[in-house]
Amino acid sequence: MAESFVIQGGKPLRGEIKVAGAKNVALKVLIASLLTKDELILHNIPVIDDVIRLLEILKSLGIKSNIDGHTVSISSKNIKSTTVPLEVGARIRASYLALGPLLARFGEAIIPNPGGCRLGARPIDRHIEGLQKMGANIKYYSEDGYFHATTKKLHGTTYHFDKNSHTGTEALILAAVLAEGETRLQNAAEEVEVDDLIQCIQLMGGHIERKPNREIVIEGVSKLHGAEYTIMSDRNEEVTFAIAAAMTKGYLIVKNSTPHTLTPFLKEFQKSGGIVEKISDTVTKYSAGKKYVPTHVTTLPHPGFMTDWQSPWALFMTQANGSSTVHETIFENRFSYVEELKKMGANIEFYEPKINNPKDYYNFRWEDHSDGCCQAIRIVGPTKLHNAVLSMHDLRAGATLLIAAMSAEGKSYIQNVEQIDRGYERIDKRFKAVEADIIRVTEGGP
Ligand code: EPU
Repeated sequence: MAESFVIQGGKPLRGEIKVAGAKNVALKVLIASLLTKDELILHNIPVIDDVIRLLEILKSLGIKSNIDGHTVSISSKNIKSTTVPLEVGARIRASYLALGPLLARFGEAIIPNPGGCRLGARPIDRHIEGLQKMGANIKYYSEDGYFHATTKKLHGTTYHFDKNSHTGTEALILAAVLAEGETRLQNAAEEVEVDDLIQCIQLMGGHIERKPNREIVIEGVSKLHGAEYTIMSDRNEEVTFAIAAAMTKGYLIVKNSTPHTLTPFLKEFQKSGGIVEKISDTVTKYSAGKKYVPTHVTTLPHPGFMTDWQSPWALFMTQANGSSTVHETIFENRFSYVEELKKMGANIEFYEPKINNPKDYYNFRWEDHSDGCCQAIRIVGPTKLHNAVLSMHDLRAGATLLIAAMSAEGKSYIQNVEQIDRGYERIDKRFKAVEADIIRVTEGGP
């Protein structure tokens, strides 16, 4: 049933809040359980819709799991199917990562075309090409919407990513770890979430090493064993909290904080006038400043300013005194929140930056870029935001609109909050505990 948030804005957030485990690691380590018959015990798993749905998908393959608080015990001893069902698989983008492990262990896999956040075309050509080089035979049938894959045996290869791919790198690691021989991934993604997955697989007995110059070398092993692993904090959630504190003119003392994963964000936040205090190695206090200066950010692969941070950042810049810009280079369609912020009075316009060679410059395929949309926005502030009825198209945009509503004057409504629930655990309850006024209502009444 569709749910909405009713938010009375204008209340400063104040108090302590704990960052949950990283969604973009949780989904991958759960998939890594397919690599062994033994039990994997995973701690700090966020209890979010994407995780619950992925566990359902894994259950349909015969995988047993048990959640106790934030610990998931999972065992792939008795796999009975190598087909990820279309109806759930297409809703959890990360489920296609099961392709490599299923091929490596069973020589076959049928996987639906990935879904997930609507950020553009989001093809997986780089993953497929890499797996084909490892000896997989993969065909996509548009009649049934599935990738059909088989292999006699995956073998090591050298694969060079033309452009950065976060999950592409993870997909090939998950396949190469049980392949025969050595795999070298060149121009591999450096996102810290990839390293967290690598650490978990190393504990399971995988031989994976990061080398200089964006190379990862994997020496295939014949089998992996069980392990116990605690996943990292969600750095995107920490950014959400920092911006929420600043936008609502309050403060948040953030526990399970990982500032070393947020360097480009913290630099811009402080430069603009946001206040950051280190309380301890794992606790950071974020507070509102008195006024903010405009900034110019361009999203980039690690170690740059992350694409996931650009929507809360653009919101923050509505409070800066002057003209700011945000240039998105990773996805061709990650500005769905702009029209919603404009409903609240934000002064934002699109423009197309002049780029000499967009085909090479942008991380997405330039042919997926539509002539009708732009890769950058100009935000002029400061603007006092007011209430509105809002809807969202992706997870980070959803969290951004929630912060906007908490900071705006009056009562706002956010519809179809399942996009937020996909990636943020009980976000309404956690914000209420730091003095936000949010009510969750189901369609038809509270
Ligand atoms: N791309 C291709 N072909 C490929 C792979 C990627 O054209 O084979 C394009 C994509 O369409 C995109 C760009 O290259 O335009 C970057 O894609 P990448 O593979 O790096 O990103 P992703 O794996 O689709 C992950 C996260 C995103 C996060 C980005 C950037 C997961 C499940 N998703 O996406 O997280 O924004 O990396 O770090 O790990 C989110 O959490 O809401 C989210 C969208």
